[in-house]
Formats: sequence, structure tokens, C-alpha cells
Amino acid sequence: MSQGRKTDHLRICAEMDVEFQRQSTWLEHVQLVHAAVAEVSFDEISTETRFMGKPLRAPLMITAISGGVKAAEGLNRDLAKVAQKLGIAFGLGSQRPMLQDPGMIGSYAVRRYAPDIPILGNIALQQAAAADPADVARLVTSIDADGLAVHLNPAQELNQTEGDKRFQDGFKTLKSLTRRMPGKVMVKETGCGISREVAQGLKTAGVRTLDVAGAGGTSWPRVENLRKGADPARREWLDDWGIPTAASLWETSPLGFTLVGSGGIRNGLDAAKCLVLGADVAGLALPVLRAYMRGGYDGALTCLQDVIAELKAVMLLVGVQDIPALKRHQPVITGQLREWINNRSRKQK
Ligand SMILES: Cc1cc2nc3c(=O)[nH]c(=O)nc-3n(C[C@H](O)[C@H](O)[C@H](O)COP(=O)(O)O)c2cc1C
Repeated sequence: MSQGRKTDHLRICAEMDVEFQRQSTWLEHVQLVHAAVAEVSFDEISTETRFMGKPLRAPLMITAISGGVKAAEGLNRDLAKVAQKLGIAFGLGSQRPMLQDPGMIGSYAVRRYAPDIPILGNIALQQAAAADPADVARLVTSIDADGLAVHLNPAQELNQTEGDKRFQDGFKTLKSLTRRMPGKVMVKETGCGISREVAQGLKTAGVRTLDVAGAGGTSWPRVENLRKGADPARREWLDDWGIPTAASLWETSPLGFTLVGSGGIRNGLDAAKCLVLGADVAGLALPVLRAYMRGGYDGALTCLQDVIAELKAVMLLVGVQDIPALKRHQPVITGQLREWINNRSRKQK
């Protein structure tokens, strides 16, 4: 990705209204059941879990934001420090610049700031398909990461004048990557969600970890429309394209992946609902970027501390003391999410 485009993306996401306009995450259709007698002490609630073979103190991940540009050096260093302090996972932004020039390692070399947490590298599926698999594997080893997030973004590429529109050989590429790096490949969308059919294909290709990154949060087709300004080539209907996060979690959770619930997660209640729907970890990108832009390291730290405190409050209010018990909570599903489930269950019989 060009330096100019990546810098545009950071600026547009920090300053403009880049979220879905008419489509929500549908997490509002997931009702948790209040426990008026909780039988739990707030101070004894444990949010501990494991992800990518390492312990986490809270089931959270900062998902991919940046890399390869000057502005990303401070951002990645500080977000890695925040993730280390809180004991949560951290995803780096696309390593495309490093794939083209291994000397561009600077903004991705954050292991020394975060020795204990899971760190994931990142590359687009199309770029992985076009590259030598040994070079793709080196994206992980050269920065001492725990794995590689391979991202899917067809709606964004379609809406980008200079976008890469060749999407063939996806499953084949993933199969060769999972053979080379067993257990280390996570596939993630970037805000349009993942269906059960696609997830089944990913499972067959050997992928074990999935980040649904569903619709309802940052809209990447919309970011591209905002970049185009008044260009008549804008495709505004794409702004709201995708499977809402709650529906994508319902689609993928029965398949046995380690699952990240993301796309529009904005507080601890959203995070709790993701876990109740089958996620192991909830991921956030835009709120962390904005908190960092406003308040630097302290801003990002406070933003995520608030999410963890809210998550614990929700756990108390549904009467659970730890993450396995939260994941067993039976929610009430209403509205459009219920219709989606009814409709898709009939088709999937
Ligand atoms: C400024 C910015 C840059 C991003 N860059 C990447 C990237 O390089 N690779 C990637 O997989 N996802 C990238 N994403 C997508 C996020 O990781 C996430 O999937 C998406 O924004 C939805 O989550 P959100 O609603 O919490 O922002 C980026 C997001 C933002 C806000």
C-alpha cells in the first residue's frame, strides 16, 4: 500500500464519520438476562483467558490499524505497550511495505515493548497469493510475532480506484500458508463479516482462528468513498454492505474456531455480547485509534481500561464470575437477528 494512501486512511478514520450509516452490528438484538441476586463479588471476577497459545488478562484484542508509515511508529509502539500493560492481544497493520522491502521493519518491530502478549502480523490475502510463501512466513518470524492475520477486504478493493480486483486462489493460498505455519494463521475480515459457507472453506484450508470483523463499525468501502470526495465513481450502497457482527458470530461459532468478535465493538457490553455469541476474544480498532489520536498512550490505555471495567460490570449483572461462565450465558435473541437465524437455519438444514 502506498504511504500516501495509508496516511489518508489514518487521517480519515481519525477525523471523519467512517462508520456504517444504516446497518448496525445487531448486537442490540442480543439481550443478556439480568441476575438481580448475583452471588458474585466484583473484585473476584476473573477476565482471564488464552489466545494464540498465551494467557490474556482480559479477552480483548486491539485489531490491525497501521504500519509502514512514519505515523505508525509511535502508534504501534504505544499500542503494544498498552496491550502489554493490560495483558491483551495486539494486531499490527498490513505488512505489505515489508513484503516489498524487508528493510521497512521499523514500525512493526514492537516485541521488545510487549514481551508477553500475543502479537499478530498482517497481510492481505491477495498479496499473500502473489508472494513467495517463504517471504510471507518471514513476516511473522522477523518480528517475533505469534501468528499472521490474513485479511479479506473485497468490498474495499472494489471501491478503490487503484484496488486489486483479482480474488481467485484464496483457499489454495491459505492452505499452503496453514501447512507452512500450522496454528499460526488467523483469517480476518475488515468490516463485512464472514458467513458459515466461507468459514467452512477456511476450516478445510486448515485455518483455526477467525476474526469475523462484521458490519456495523468502521466501513472500509465508506472510507474509500470519503477519499474519493465528489468523484462520480463513488458507490455509496457499498457503505452499508456486509454481515452484521452478531449474525457473523452466529454463522461461525458452531464450527470450532478460536473466534474473535469484532466490527463495531465500542464498550464492554458489546464485548460481553460477542463472548455470549461464541467469541473467545472481542476486538476493537477505531475506538482505540481515536483515543490514541486524542490522548496518546494514556488515552488508549484509559479507553481499554473502561472497556474492561464495563465488561466486569456486565459479568456481575448476569451473575458470572469468569469467562467460561459468561460464554455459557443463554441470551435472548430478538428482532432482525432472530429473522436472520430463522431464515439461515432453514437454508442450512
Ligand atoms: C485506520 C485503520 C486502519 C486499518 N488497517 C487495517 C490493516 O492494515 N489490516 C487489517 O486487517 N485491518 C485493518 N483495519 C481494520 C480493523 O482491523 C477492523 O477489522 C475494522 O476496522 C473493524 O473494526 P472497528 O469497527 O472496531 O474499527 C484498519 C482499521 C482502521 C480504523
